[in-house]
Amino acid sequence: MSLPSVVPAPASIEAGPGEPFRLSGETAVTGDAAAAAALSSVLQARTGLTLARRDGAAIALRVDPSAGAAESYRIAADAASVVVTGADAAGLFYGVQTLTQLVARDGEEWIIPAVTIADAPRFAYRGVMLDVARHFHPLATVKGYIDRAASLKFNALHLHLTDDQGWRLQLESRPELTEHAAATSVGGDPGGFYTKDEYREIVSYAASRHMIVVPEIDMPGHTHAVGLAYPELAEDPSVNDEMREIIRLHGGGEPAPGEPYTGIAVGFSSLKIGDEATYDFVADVFGELAAMTPGPYLHLGGDESLSTSDEDFASFIARASAIIADLGKTPVAWHEAGAAAGIADTTIGQYWGFVTPTGGMDDRARAFVANGSQLILSPADAIYLDMQYPSGPQLGLAWANGPTSVERAYSWEPSEVIAGIEDADILGVEAPLWTETIRTEADIDLMAFPRVAAAAEAGWSPATGESELRTWESFRARVGALGPLWTSLGIGFHPSDEIPWADR
Ligand code: ACM
Repeated sequence: MSLPSVVPAPASIEAGPGEPFRLSGETAVTGDAAAAAALSSVLQARTGLTLARRDGAAIALRVDPSAGAAESYRIAADAASVVVTGADAAGLFYGVQTLTQLVARDGEEWIIPAVTIADAPRFAYRGVMLDVARHFHPLATVKGYIDRAASLKFNALHLHLTDDQGWRLQLESRPELTEHAAATSVGGDPGGFYTKDEYREIVSYAASRHMIVVPEIDMPGHTHAVGLAYPELAEDPSVNDEMREIIRLHGGGEPAPGEPYTGIAVGFSSLKIGDEATYDFVADVFGELAAMTPGPYLHLGGDESLSTSDEDFASFIARASAIIADLGKTPVAWHEAGAAAGIADTTIGQYWGFVTPTGGMDDRARAFVANGSQLILSPADAIYLDMQYPSGPQLGLAWANGPTSVERAYSWEPSEVIAGIEDADILGVEAPLWTETIRTEADIDLMAFPRVAAAAEAGWSPATGESELRTWESFRARVGALGPLWTSLGIGFHPSDEIPWADR
């Protein structure tokens, strides 16, 4: 009997011997109300059936802390009943996500095949990142991305809130940021920002889907927008030949002090490292952000500070990471910050080099582990979701060894990226989506799906070689089976010809 298709692959799944559970207008759902609501809404979209809240031939949703580790769940389905047991509320939520994937057609009927599943995540942190700085994306789009990511058992939304092109979060301590540095996006497209209430709404919406928000304020580079609001804090742009070449290829003109930047060159901006006013600014920004971010992490950026000297970079990273640590939060920084000897030793490093490291990026990443901390893995040539596809939508960039096929997004193993780094050193996996070319929710869907499912599997599922499901052939078949569910949820995925898409 063939196994039902579940993505990310569960730790253990066995097809039952008996008849399936048949769904109908009489099917009842009992137990946890939040999980029942989550299940009902997806089942309604997929099947048109409305589940009743009463006893009877039933789907039972329950939390039992003795059922396993944090975020784990079990499913037992046979002809008589379907029981989903989460070890905690998150585990039950993930069990429900799996259950929605199990629902299948049998002629004109809907069934849940007889099956036994016991599942738990490999890594504690499973993230998606959305860049809302290069193109601003409104609240509704962010909520939609939270729903989509949570359905694949991601538990962190990293928001890249600031960059050269715009500052996207209102702060009372520094109101000029959104007054003067939020109006535009790349290409001169409209900008925007989240009010504090909207940010809190994102945080609480994410929490209702068992996701934390990891806000990033990228520093000391990627800060041209800061200079529009507070010119005294920013150095004048410093443009080198490499940046001029990007500007020649992509247009947008050279960055100029006091003028919004709408191109896509990187590395020309820096905060003033030697001025105390800079650290007052950093303390204000992270202080206010810490107060409205219940999750443990504040991301300070630290990537591509190409116009900041190594010495200045190290001293800035040491102070900014200490400010975050003193707020009781765990700093996160892109891997370059591993070169800063004085970095707070709790800082999590986010590796964005290639699956096969180049240019000493692995050394920078290993430095975080040497400090006693951990890494988030975001290998750019595998799971940067903004890389072009080999064929299909004319969207995305290609600098990270792109175009990036779905097979490449899938075919890497977290414990094999950085020599000497093993599972205990890895906090988790995150798939970033940069938005230089990504303007709309439809663009996000096309670029993320199906490749984000590959990142979900790297973060959640057993290691390559430890499960027969962890092969490209298995993944492409399982993802293909999800097409009709994604369509019913309004996810406009790229119908990549690498995937055998099911048609109903
Ligand atoms: C990055 O891609 N600059 C983190």
